[in-house]
Amino acid sequence: MSGLPSKKAATAAISAHVAVLKGEPLRLSLSKALAKGEGMGGNERRFAAFATRELSRHQRWLDRVAKELGRAPSDFQLEEDRAVIRYALWRRFKGAATVEQAMREVALPGPVRPRSVPDAIVRGAIEQPLPPLPDDEPALTHSFPAWLAEALGNDALVMAALNRESPLMLKVRPNGTRDEVQALLGEIPTKPIDGVPDGLVLDEEGRRIFESKPMKQGRLVVMDAGSQRIVQLCGAQPGQTVVDYCAGAGGKTIALADAVGERGRVLAYDNSPRRLNEAKGRVKELGIRHVSFPSMPRLDDADVVLVDAPCSGTGTLAREPDQKWKLKPADVEKFAKTQGALLDEVAAKVGSKTVLVYATCSLLKAEDEAVVEAFLGRQRRFALTESLRVWPQESLGGGFFAARLTQTFG
Ligand SMILES: C[S@@+](CC[C@H](N)C(=O)[O-])C[C@H]1O[C@@H](n2cnc3c(N)ncnc32)[C@H](O)[C@@H]1O
Repeated sequence: MSGLPSKKAATAAISAHVAVLKGEPLRLSLSKALAKGEGMGGNERRFAAFATRELSRHQRWLDRVAKELGRAPSDFQLEEDRAVIRYALWRRFKGAATVEQAMREVALPGPVRPRSVPDAIVRGAIEQPLPPLPDDEPALTHSFPAWLAEALGNDALVMAALNRESPLMLKVRPNGTRDEVQALLGEIPTKPIDGVPDGLVLDEEGRRIFESKPMKQGRLVVMDAGSQRIVQLCGAQPGQTVVDYCAGAGGKTIALADAVGERGRVLAYDNSPRRLNEAKGRVKELGIRHVSFPSMPRLDDADVVLVDAPCSGTGTLAREPDQKWKLKPADVEKFAKTQGALLDEVAAKVGSKTVLVYATCSLLKAEDEAVVEAFLGRQRRFALTESLRVWPQESLGGGFFAARLTQTFG
């Protein structure tokens, strides 16, 4: 991130971080802070968003540095104080700012209120050299809760990858028109995504793409490489019927609709009417007519049913780093139960030729391989024919798991 961030941008990041510490989801706190930061330009807004994610990403490391420098977060009563110290330390040591720059961004009078920590204390904490920290604890270096680091095999590469910003990824429509859409984008730079035939990654920081013709014409939608690969694993063919059983806001619904084409059908279902409404809105906006939203879709004549199950989201922590502090081991157990129950519910309703695709954006075996294994133990007519395990360090935009389950007789 180039240039000097304004005090406004720093304030937006610190305020958003305070809201996260008070329990608000990062996405919401960020959009509120950006809405308040009137007059901020594109670069400032991007910086504020990046800094907000970084404060959650590196929270544990920043707090340990503060503690070694004699300013343990527990010394401060207010979340605002902790957030200001964290921000100043982050700017100094992760954002590579000078002490003077970092202080300019946080110095009083700053609009982040209430705040009780004086500038002198902040300066004292950040002008000292970085204290020596253990370098053999990936959970500390990469700021992960100990239990989650352990569940990820204490793998430094995985954790480091989950701390990186994700680029904006897109899917072209209709399928097979990537070169054409790239040409239509003119000087807006994009690159093809390896192994994802309709995927593009934006190769600039700006957001001109949203004003571009292909985007306005629905020739491009925002979609991660992972989502596109999960849809590929579904193997839906033109003319087929596919049920998107956990359609959410409709990300994969659109790619499935593109795969089956106008002679095919996609039935989208989710037990959250609010999310499904978003999906309906997106489908309508794109003018897609072969997607319907029955209150309970029939599964017996579906060629493919995709169960994109609710999960811990550990594969996508780069986008939602606040989740790593909110997630608890008990949540993972709960997700695994829900995932198994969902698969059983779907298996009981599908036809004998229906292919079941199970997917999560989790990196945890307990929600992935273990769920599939247990399901195969209960539902003997299913067999695992293909599975896809993608680690975040190997792919743009996070990690995920997907399994294709076919029926062996019937
Ligand atoms: C990972 S999200 C789906 C994301 C979506 N497929 C996409 O690509 O944008 C999981 C979804 O499962 C839904 N869900 C949870 N329990 C469910 C159930 N029993 N039946 C159907 N949907 C359920 C949640 O509301 C949530 O939208």
